[in-house]
Amino acid sequence: MPARPDGAGDYDVPVLTDGTVVLRRLEERDVPQLARNCADPAAAEFTTVPLGYTESDARWYVEHFVPEAWRAGREYNWAAADAATDRLYGTVGFNALRGTTADVGLNFGPHARGTGAAEAACRLLLDHGFEQLGLTYAYWVAKVPNWASRKLAWKLGFRSPVRIDGFMEQRGASVDAWILTLGADDPRAPRTPWDGPPPPGAAR
Ligand SMILES: CC(C)(COP(=O)(O)OP(=O)(O)OC[C@H]1O[C@@H](n2cnc3c(N)ncnc32)[C@H](O)[C@@H]1OP(=O)(O)O)[C@@H](O)C(=O)NCCC(=O)NCCS
Repeated sequence: MPARPDGAGDYDVPVLTDGTVVLRRLEERDVPQLARNCADPAAAEFTTVPLGYTESDARWYVEHFVPEAWRAGREYNWAAADAATDRLYGTVGFNALRGTTADVGLNFGPHARGTGAAEAACRLLLDHGFEQLGLTYAYWVAKVPNWASRKLAWKLGFRSPVRIDGFMEQRGASVDAWILTLGADDPRAPRTPWDGPPPPGAAR
């Protein structure tokens, strides 16, 4: 099945859960937390969210951008929430669906980082992409030096990190990017020992 089926026009967002994290449709109730997540300095530094992000930006994203991109088969974005409380952790999805490949995109709020929620959400997303959407490869594009992102990709089994200078567009600027690849049949675990820096503040 192609990742972007002909005639895709519905905004039917499958619910994906492992019992701790749930991926579901973004709703109006997510707007305040989504706005806080996107106004966070790490989101501004490493993602393409507009600067000075407001609830009005979040409402437009929830009500227009995500449904329209989904219906057009361009991007599939989910809310990632606590399965017990439904509190929004962040967003995760497949951007730039093309052929049988797509890029993973994600942004989690500071309250969700370091909890394992982002890793769990990505595992649900990747299982769905490879098993239900028929993806053959997923790509991970991170602005250099987004080590938190690169380490998460490493944990998920993404391989072959390459750096391409100027590859990523961020608010009109071309910035340097790491690109990693995960194939449908690849193990979803680190392939090599971690060769990046230790966690910030870790004893050496
Ligand atoms: C990327 C993101 C989803 C990762 O979420 P997470 O896995 O919960 O993040 P963590 O804070 O636990 O960081 C992941 C790992 O990187 C490590 N790390 C973070 N910053 C680091 C740095 N500057 N140097 C070295 N290691 C770093 C953490 O210690 C952690 O390692 P550990 O699991 O061994 O403890 C989250 O940080 C985020 O949403 N950031 C803002 C938006 C963003 O960058 N999105 C990704 C765009 S590609």
